[in-house]
Amino acid sequence: MKSKQEILDSKIEQAKAGGGKKRIEAQHKKGKMTARERVHFLLDEGSFEEIGMLVTHRATEFGMDKEIYPGDGVITGYGKINGRFVYVFAQDFTVFGGSLSETHAQKICRIMDLAMQNGAPVIGLNDSGGARIQEGVVSLGGYADIFYRNTLASGVIPQISAIMGPCAGGAVYSPAITDFIMMVENTSYMFVTGPNVVKTVTHENVSSEELGGAMTHASKSGVTHFTCVNEMECIHYIKRLLSYIPQNCEEDAPALEYIPSNESRPSLNSIIPENPNQPYDMHDVISGVVDTDSFFEVHRDFAENILVGFARLEGRSIGVVANQPAHLAGVLDIHASTKAARFVRFCDCFNIPLLVFEDVPGFLPGTDQEWNAIITNGAKLLYAFSEATVPRITVITRKAYGGAYDVMNSKHIGADMNYAWPSAEIAVMGAKGAAEIIFKKEISEAQDAAAKLKEKEDEYNKLFANPYKAAERGYIDEVISPSQTRVKLISAFRMLRNKVAKLPRKKHGNIPL
Ligand code: HXC
Repeated sequence: MKSKQEILDSKIEQAKAGGGKKRIEAQHKKGKMTARERVHFLLDEGSFEEIGMLVTHRATEFGMDKEIYPGDGVITGYGKINGRFVYVFAQDFTVFGGSLSETHAQKICRIMDLAMQNGAPVIGLNDSGGARIQEGVVSLGGYADIFYRNTLASGVIPQISAIMGPCAGGAVYSPAITDFIMMVENTSYMFVTGPNVVKTVTHENVSSEELGGAMTHASKSGVTHFTCVNEMECIHYIKRLLSYIPQNCEEDAPALEYIPSNESRPSLNSIIPENPNQPYDMHDVISGVVDTDSFFEVHRDFAENILVGFARLEGRSIGVVANQPAHLAGVLDIHASTKAARFVRFCDCFNIPLLVFEDVPGFLPGTDQEWNAIITNGAKLLYAFSEATVPRITVITRKAYGGAYDVMNSKHIGADMNYAWPSAEIAVMGAKGAAEIIFKKEISEAQDAAAKLKEKEDEYNKLFANPYKAAERGYIDEVISPSQTRVKLISAFRMLRNKVAKLPRKKHGNIPL
């Protein structure tokens, strides 16, 4: 007869074996780690404490009473990443394909509740065939219990979803509500309906990868914020992301030690080309200003006309939003607006100050944009900036035209400081368009219409294609030499460190969704 200790040991051993050797081998063959391996690499050595290791499902139909795996296809618990507490669930594909049963869902809900009560991030490592088919509606109920908690936790604690295998059907909506999604290339996919249903309904032939693989969601839909070449890179990204963000909405992000030195950056003086229509890479501006190698780009492959990501100034976290003149001239369109709006709101939820670099010719014209609601979508960015109460600073490097000037964190919508480089052009519209409208008659009546247009264009440029009209009004606080940008920003963010700004009392706003 087994001793009590032996009984415990054998149960633990059984739980750790997951779905068994064969299924683990199959998992490895696909280039995937097991749930336990993922948790092992994610958390600080020896810090993981498992909760609910011996939980089993209660289903009896379809012979399920004979197929019992302690843990029921999900490993849940808490541990530390770089010394900070996190709560984790990792779905185990080797047990019923990681499918979600009633008890599997309860385990996830339990750690979400603990995370909320104790103010620490939740990280979900998703690898699941969806609802446990043998359980029917209780599985759907389990999903809804998770969605509800995701929503309540939104803005209270950071939630990160790593997709490391299938994620299909309604199951995609839990990751979608969380703050960040990461996908692993070639081994993960997300879709509401899979290729077979697509073929039946729309007669399209599409592979899983094409329909909902990492690159698809990174570049076409924007559903995923990061794509990773493999699972180790994904785990590394999760750790890096966490290093920029606080444990919860009441705290500040951790600050790294920083030894002040000469903060002047002369190389910034030569980034803006002589010709105002020539593109340049805004990455060079960002990396020239922030702490060395600290820019961690989010949504890199989606709406490349705007850049968003985390960085550090003096070791402190900031969120960067920047128009990218090297892509579509940095124009604001639907995708750029929604991408930036979501990022701004995340930073505001979690007390991360915002730094904006602006070089924007305006909103993108066209039927495609208008019919797909650039009005509503552009308004999202306007709304997100307007309601953000974190310290907010804008640096206009070149163009700030039209409505885009207002939207891109202008002082009129609550930014704390606006700086401009001498190359800034702040006006209602570009000189050519402006001249064509206000001097239409004069130009059409001129002997040499082209020369007249050029003359009027130059006139308009001289008057408005600079930062000084805005500086005279105080819309721009200071026109600064590019090389001094870092110095000014360090000083201004220090000045704003204790900023208190409150929104009017309300239940919640009504962002134009
Ligand atoms: C129970 C499941 C399962 C599920 C897979 N398995 N999905 N068990 N419920 N949903 C089991 C399989 O029976 C198999 O068990 C093991 O997991 C591995 O599955 P395979 O098919 O052998 O693996 P693979 O070839 O890699 O294919 C993976 C898969 C496929 C693409 C995920 O299994 C699949 O299509 N599963 C069904 C997906 C699905 O339709 N789910 C319901 C969606 S609706 P053995 O014993 O052989 O190892 C939904 C609604 C949610 O999720 C709504 C929320 C609001």
